[in-house]
Amino acid sequence: MMLLSVLLVLVLSAYSPEQIFLYPPMPAHNSHQTAINSPHDNAKACNLFNGTWVRDFGGPIYTNTTCPTIPEARNCAKYGKQMDYVNWMWKPHGCAMEKFEPHLFLTIVRGKTLAFAGDSIARNQMESLLCLLSQKFYQIAVIKDLDTTLQAFPVEDSQRQINGTVVEEHDIHLDKLDPRLATNLHQINILVISTSRWFFRRNYLYEGEELIGCIYCSEDNITSFSVPMAIQRVFRTALKNLKESQECRLQLTVVRTATSAHFENGLWNTGGSCNRTEPLREEAMIDQTEWAIRNAQVEEADRTKKNNGKGGVKIEIIDITKAMSMRPDAHPGIHWNNQWMRGYSDCSHWCLPGPIDMWNELLLAVLNKYKNSLEDQ
Ligand SMILES: *[C@@H]1O[C@H](CO)[C@@H](O)[C@H](O)[C@H]1NC(C)=O
Ligand SMILES: *[C@@H]1O[C@H](CO)[C@@H](O)[C@H](O)[C@H]1NC(C)=O
Ligand SMILES: *[C@@H]1O[C@H](CO)[C@@H](O)[C@H](O)[C@H]1NC(C)=O
Ligand SMILES: *[C@@H]1O[C@H](CO)[C@@H](O)[C@H](O)[C@H]1NC(C)=O
Ligand SMILES: *[C@@H]1O[C@H](CO)[C@@H](O)[C@H](O)[C@H]1NC(C)=O
Repeated sequence: MMLLSVLLVLVLSAYSPEQIFLYPPMPAHNSHQTAINSPHDNAKACNLFNGTWVRDFGGPIYTNTTCPTIPEARNCAKYGKQMDYVNWMWKPHGCAMEKFEPHLFLTIVRGKTLAFAGDSIARNQMESLLCLLSQKFYQIAVIKDLDTTLQAFPVEDSQRQINGTVVEEHDIHLDKLDPRLATNLHQINILVISTSRWFFRRNYLYEGEELIGCIYCSEDNITSFSVPMAIQRVFRTALKNLKESQECRLQLTVVRTATSAHFENGLWNTGGSCNRTEPLREEAMIDQTEWAIRNAQVEEADRTKKNNGKGGVKIEIIDITKAMSMRPDAHPGIHWNNQWMRGYSDCSHWCLPGPIDMWNELLLAVLNKYKNSLEDQ
């Protein structure tokens, strides 16, 4: 619901570790992506993405009073949500997760530009990162959030017009990188990309200007693509283009896998809600479509990695699909400032602080792996 199409770019710019810039907006309207990744030093013995949530009463490293940038819509505590959902820690099988270390993070990204491209869930991760970095010791010199509404695809898309009226259908060009992303790539060193909810609507897919299929259409003469199939094609193209992009500074692309919404007893607009108060156990069901999308993302990231010779942009994955499928308790639900949508639950985004902070612990683990190989720019 209300997954605004936003290409959000966070730039941790780099003159000093104390400076954070939110990257300027791209002119038009689209984009997308994710990034994912794996481990650091104990990487061999440990799959950071396979584990369970265990009790941890240590408390989050920030609160709604210590994080000055916490968005109203994610400040669930303020709107009455019981905060037990912060008392869980992700525990990968066979190893421990490192807690987020703001200083380490800022040291690694120093001199680099980190960007998140995607929809409002990607933005949610960026918001979490800003809060994690907002502890009192780290004064944030500059924050500029110059985002604009963008369409959330990694590849070029345009909204269809019928008789001059924009309709909720899109033409997606699988072989062209989103122009806004392409235009700004020259300034980005580390890019976190994800998929978006925007695929879940009627879309027409093109390759080399040829219509090759569509999603959610039932036109006899057009090949029908499932959402995961379409996302697979999009990722293949986007990752290949990113990997091969020559004249840019991009050094690392991180694919963040899909994350499920947890509406129960209805959809977002038919009274669905999410009022569970505990994580689900590991064997809990993962939404099959979400899992298929995650598999497509992992496959394409692996494929691009394999085809990667020595050089080229590195690809990593942050595979949060399984972990987050277990956290129906950590969405805002009815606890947000939904004046214009009174009574509707938000079971897609994640409360801050909350388990989405773990995505940035994983991001740090990934970055830490490259800490000596990311060149200064
Ligand atoms: C995750 O861990 C469980 C328990 O150790 C194991 O049964 C399962 O195969 C693992 N899954 C993956 C994808 O590694
Ligand atoms: C922070 O959350 C508490 C509930 O834990 C709430 O009472 C308070 O109003 C919130 N403060 C801010 C600044 O959001
Ligand atoms: C477009 O406009 C024309 C003329 O007003 C109308 O006859 C036609 O049905 C419209 N087509 C669609 C798809 O709305
Ligand atoms: C598919 O069939 C419809 C109706 O016959 C036609 O208008 C449309 O142009 C056809 N599309 C393609 C790609 O052939
Ligand atoms: C949770 O929501 C359902 C409706 O979806 C409602 O019937 C139930 O009473 C709610 N439970 C709590 C504890 O609020």
